Formats: sequence, C-alpha cells, structure tokens
Amino acid sequence: MKNFTSVTDVSHLNTIIQSALDIKSNPYNDKKLGENKTLGLIFLNPSLRTRLSTQKAAMNLGMNVMVMNMDKEGWALETQEGAIMNHTTVEHIKDAAAVMGEYCDIIGVRSFPKLIDKNEDYSEDFFNKFIKYCGVPVVSLESATLHPLQSLADCITISENEKLIKRISKPKVVLTWAPHIKPLPQAVANSFAEWMCKSDVDFTITHPFGYDLNEKFTSGAKVLIDQNEALKNADYVYVKNWSSYSDYGKILCNDTTWMLTLEKLKLTNQAKVMHCLPVRRNVELSDAILDSPNSLVTQQANNRTWAAQAVLKSILQNLV
Ligand code: CP
Repeated sequence: MKNFTSVTDVSHLNTIIQSALDIKSNPYNDKKLGENKTLGLIFLNPSLRTRLSTQKAAMNLGMNVMVMNMDKEGWALETQEGAIMNHTTVEHIKDAAAVMGEYCDIIGVRSFPKLIDKNEDYSEDFFNKFIKYCGVPVVSLESATLHPLQSLADCITISENEKLIKRISKPKVVLTWAPHIKPLPQAVANSFAEWMCKSDVDFTITHPFGYDLNEKFTSGAKVLIDQNEALKNADYVYVKNWSSYSDYGKILCNDTTWMLTLEKLKLTNQAKVMHCLPVRRNVELSDAILDSPNSLVTQQANNRTWAAQAVLKSILQNLV
C-alpha cells in the first residue's frame, strides 16, 4: 500500500481485516518494522480516538511519532496555486508539505470539510495537494469526504462479532441517519457506505428526505426513507448524523424521533449498535442503548488501533 485515503487503496478487504485481527492478538510482533521510521500526524481539526489510536499503533510498530495541531500550532496554509499571499495565509501547502515530508517517512492528515462549497470539499483539494507535495505516503485521519481508518475499524468489529455466531445468510447492516444540533460532514457515512458496499453484507441506508449521500459511495446499497422499515431484522445498526449533500451542508430535519431507542431496536434482530464517537447522548442515541450490551461503540474505538496498525504495517513493508 502506498497511500491510505479510501477503500480503493486496499487490494483485498478480507486480507487487511485479518491482518488487523492477527495484530490485535499479537500487537508487538512487528516491533522492528518501524525502527528508525517517523510518523507525522497533522491535525487541522480536533480528535481523541484517531490521534491516540494511530500514535499507539505506530508505537507498537516501533516508530517515532510527531504530532502537530496545525490549526493551533502551525502557520495558516494557502492552497491556491499562484496566490498572492498578502492576506491571512502565511505559508503555502507546497512548502509546508514538502518540509514535513523531509522530517517524516509517513504522514497522517486530518482535514475536515468547510461544508460551504460542495465542489471544493469533494475535490479533496487539500489532501491531493498534500500527497502531491509531501513526497511520502499519506494516511487519511479523516478527509473532507471520507474516514477510511474508521470504516476499517468498523469492518473489523463486524467481522469479530460475526465469528461469534452461526448465521445462514449475510448479516443485515443498516446505516441510519440520526439527529444532531450541528451540521456534520458526510465523511463517516460516505466511508461506511463505501466499505459496506464492498463487503459480504446485506446493506441498507435510511435517512429523512433530502439526506441522500453521494451515489459514488452508495452504489449497491438499498436506500429507504422509512426508518422502521429499514430497521426490520437488522443485525447491525450504524447510527450517524450527516448534513445534507444535495442542499450542501444544511440541516433539513430536526425530527427527534429519528434517534435510535430501545423501542426501535425491538424491530431488529437484537441488533448490535455502532457509532464512530464522539456521540451526543440522548440526541443521536439514547443512554439506554449506549449503556446496553448491544452497544459496540467501545469495541469499535479499540479496533481503531488495529486498523491503523494494519495500514501502517502495510505501508512500512512497501517503503524502500
Ligand atoms: N471517530 C473518530 O474519528 O474520533 P475522533 O474524532 O475523536 O478522532
């Protein structure tokens, strides 16, 4: 693997999931692989899980890790080619990325969308320019449109749970929109859809009118506006808010009945409930579900480490 920015960077889904599970059962097996290699983690937005799990993964591989909160500690970056930089930006991405590439063997980048201009966000301009100018492999720590480390951890979590039961047909996985007080990116939902559409599952997405995701990521999924219908016989329910893609970045629905509750869970096949965290309790998901044995949210967060370690291991193995 060269870069890790989407499911398309993974040649075989089951192979990387199994690699992560092997690493989970023996985390220090590759302690020599990352010796004298440096991982740089660049955050333009806040993080708890991504930051800590990726650092832990790198340390398990024997790597050195440097973390920079670009939004607070770095210079304001310019991305426009040919910009006359006489306003607020202080350093051009082509200079900053090139310098960071000199210090690091692999760089992880988190950069959220602005949720103002769909074309700008979906062009992944920042990520693509960073990859172009840094000259070393780049791992997405969540881009404007995708969160592949989260989705890999989610696939690992489903795989672990599937090993515990005997099932005669494919598991039914439902991604349901949930209410939220702020407009959030579509990245987690896009990414989960993209990975589920490549997995051996029966995949349904449910959301209110106006919340269709970009079809590029949902091809092969069943999409329903009726949440109760979608939840019927579900084995896994992934709860996530996202802002509108068509009416870009807007909140179109404030219907609190879209929050998943124990009552709604009765429609399912005693479904396991997933969320990437952070979660707004009793807005997106009820306390009763989050504190119940059905919740997989902590297991998902744990699996972020093994997802990151499998990805870093694969990239390290390809470094010359
Ligand atoms: N799920 C996730 O990416 O969490 P953080 O934003 O805390 O990293």
